[in-house]
Amino acid sequence: MNPNRPTDSLPAPGADALAQSEALCATIRARIAAAGGWLPFDRYMELALYAPGLGYYSGGAMKFGRRAEDGSDFITAPELSPLFAATLARPVAQALQQSGTRRLMEFGAGTGKLAAGLLTALAEMNVDIDSYEIVELSGELRDRQRATIDARAGALAGKVQWLDALPEAFEGVAIGNEVLDAMPVRLVVRKLGAWHERGVVALNDGFAFEDRAIEPDAHVELIDAAIEDELSADYVTETHEAALGFTKTVCTMITRGAAFFTDYGFPRREFYHAQRATGTLMCHYRHRAHADPFLYPGLQDITAHVEFSGIAEAGVEAGADLLGFTSQARFLMNSGITDVLGAFDPSDVKRFLPAANAVQKLLSEAEMGELFKVIAFSRGIDGTVDAFAVGDRSHTL
Ligand SMILES: C[S@@+](CC[C@H](N)C(=O)[O-])C[C@H]1O[C@@H](n2cnc3c(N)ncnc32)[C@H](O)[C@@H]1O
Repeated sequence: MNPNRPTDSLPAPGADALAQSEALCATIRARIAAAGGWLPFDRYMELALYAPGLGYYSGGAMKFGRRAEDGSDFITAPELSPLFAATLARPVAQALQQSGTRRLMEFGAGTGKLAAGLLTALAEMNVDIDSYEIVELSGELRDRQRATIDARAGALAGKVQWLDALPEAFEGVAIGNEVLDAMPVRLVVRKLGAWHERGVVALNDGFAFEDRAIEPDAHVELIDAAIEDELSADYVTETHEAALGFTKTVCTMITRGAAFFTDYGFPRREFYHAQRATGTLMCHYRHRAHADPFLYPGLQDITAHVEFSGIAEAGVEAGADLLGFTSQARFLMNSGITDVLGAFDPSDVKRFLPAANAVQKLLSEAEMGELFKVIAFSRGIDGTVDAFAVGDRSHTL
């Protein structure tokens, strides 16, 4: 039994969902057997989230929503309130204007609410774009996105297209909300000063972790340097090869324009800290967070926090400029979220109160305001955008 398994009762999945999870487990077992009985954790996570038709993001799970009763597991900023998209539209418009480009690209577009919100907000600001290109791994989500955008963005939906792969070159502005945290991570463990990689083995009734000794590579050496030798206890953490590779690819692809990534995480010094000794791997099932990645494979989200110093280095290595790095609260305030809220009539309590509550959640230090950060890269843009004008924390990376 995994000691991290939530002991209190979680809502049980329905029969169809359980059958899908069983089918995914059979696929994972076959992969473990083919790999000689042990699979690195990042390979397990990739299958659990993205195995065609069966993984959490590629299968039929509801995923995004407000309440467990809806069958959803977590909520993201664009799902929480249309004010997120309406505010993000401002720095996006500025980056389009400063780079003289007219295309948008979104990675992992969820239900399509951010796309619909950006399209309508930009149109209201009289910012004309040629296309809104969505890169989405999940066929099921593509269908949901199409339906949302058709329903919410009217004729602007005609500008949206779905790409099967990233183009070699792109002139425009790219965005990704909570995409980097959804990329597979490697788990590494330091025990009595010796490094191990944490992998997955099959049991009769599920899966379990098994650690194998490794020679420290460049990623592990960075961690060693950050946490120093003050540790006698085990130290478990993640390395983020997939997110780093993705950032490099995106920053190489953008020949002119910018990329904005919003996500939860920390700069390296804070991430690889002696006190963060159990890592940041986290699972979400029916709005409950827990640490057992082997619970209902394919039916729950698995995620890890983003290590933003590595992301910044990857983008700069690919030839992009770091446009800025700051907290979500600071980014949204600099972008004028209070003006956007100001457009709501406070006497219209039914509309105003939910909007004001959402702004509070997006900005509050105790909720999404401080843990979530925005990092942005640019190429061919002089200066910065107003969203980073006050409180830029690039120096902390
Ligand atoms: C936590 S969800 C966030 C969805 C949405 N952006 C939101 O904020 O509601 C993560 C998304 O990232 C997508 N994703 C993961 N890896 C990706 C990749 N390499 N390229 C594009 N999308 C990716 C997933 O398919 C999923 O849609």
